Amino acid sequence: MKRLEVKKLDFAYGRNQILFEFDFSLEEGQIGCLLGPSGCGKTTALRAIAGFEIPTKGEIILNGKKLNSSKLFVEPEKRQIGMVFQDIALFPHLSVEENIQFGIRLLPKSLRYERSNELLDLVGMSQFKKKYSHELSGGQQQRIALARAMAPKPSLLLMDEPLSSLDEELREQLAREIRIILQQEKISAILVTHDQNEAFAVGDHISVMHQGRVQQNDSAYNLYHHPLNRFVAEFIGEGTLLTGLISSNDTISTDLGDIKFNLTEAFQLQEKVDLLIRPENVILSHDNENKAIITARYFRGSSYLYNLKTSRGTELLCLLHDSEVLNINQLIGVRLQIDRPVIFRCP
Ligand SMILES: Nc1ncnc2c1ncn2[C@@H]1O[C@H](COP(=O)(O)OP(=O)(O)OP(=O)(O)O)[C@@H](O)[C@H]1O
Ligand SMILES: [Mg+2]
Repeated sequence: MKRLEVKKLDFAYGRNQILFEFDFSLEEGQIGCLLGPSGCGKTTALRAIAGFEIPTKGEIILNGKKLNSSKLFVEPEKRQIGMVFQDIALFPHLSVEENIQFGIRLLPKSLRYERSNELLDLVGMSQFKKKYSHELSGGQQQRIALARAMAPKPSLLLMDEPLSSLDEELREQLAREIRIILQQEKISAILVTHDQNEAFAVGDHISVMHQGRVQQNDSAYNLYHHPLNRFVAEFIGEGTLLTGLISSNDTISTDLGDIKFNLTEAFQLQEKVDLLIRPENVILSHDNENKAIITARYFRGSSYLYNLKTSRGTELLCLLHDSEVLNINQLIGVRLQIDRPVIFRCP
């Protein structure tokens, strides 16, 4: 049995429809991510699942129990769902320990302390238990918010950009820690983020959203290597699109040479298509007849990312280890190496 099933959820604020047939599901102990640009409906989707918003259509089923229908609406506090909100708000007048105990304040004192000590340990904050939120850093507050939401042992934990106020390094580290903590507690969770590295570090699967619709629900690998549409191709990872022509059953002809592929039913001979070119598909070789000029260079630690422009105006990205440093305006030969081309129909 699935832990969570969300089926074709529609939601509107007044006449403004925000979610369109939103589908999402989680197995027990799984962590799913919602990834998408600002305003695409991530928070709204979480709020609907938690019961703070009432969907216009669709179903939410948690542990096999329906939470909403035309006749039924389970109140948020009866859903066994924990939520960490986008703007963490610890209670300022309560200590760290009292914050964590807030959702279990009806338990006997000894059990309450046992659980809060266990969680303080889990999030590595035991020495801070008597402190107040103003005495904690942003990252420490986020750990406490997480511990507070986990205290009542929810069936499902919803986390809305819990790491957004942290710098990148700490964000990825804490994202990995959260993954371990949730697995230890066997809690299924949805993590909302607009940072793909965070989603890649935490998610068993990732739903990429755009304008209220799930565009693709998949593994990080498939989102990067097999994006289903242009939005996902451009949103995940780096790359550019190169126009080509399907010139035969197994060839796409481009300004930068022929690319091998297998014609499927979705495309026709002589059709114009856009080919996704990731930085690793662009190979620089001094002797190649196709030339491009370096237009920009970005330091990436162990490598440099280059922007290139061919004589016909095609833009490309290329990643090179820093043993070989190229200069802006330098002319260089380029070729493409693509094993499994990703192509889209031209609009
Ligand atoms: N209370 C509200 N009343 C009316 N419209 C709202 C309300 N809350 C959000 N919206 C609209 O719903 C859309 C989706 O908002 P939502 O907060 O779900 O986006 P998000 O994906 O969480 O964005 P962000 O990454 O910026 O947090 C936006 O266009 C927003 O303006
Ligand atoms: Mg949001």
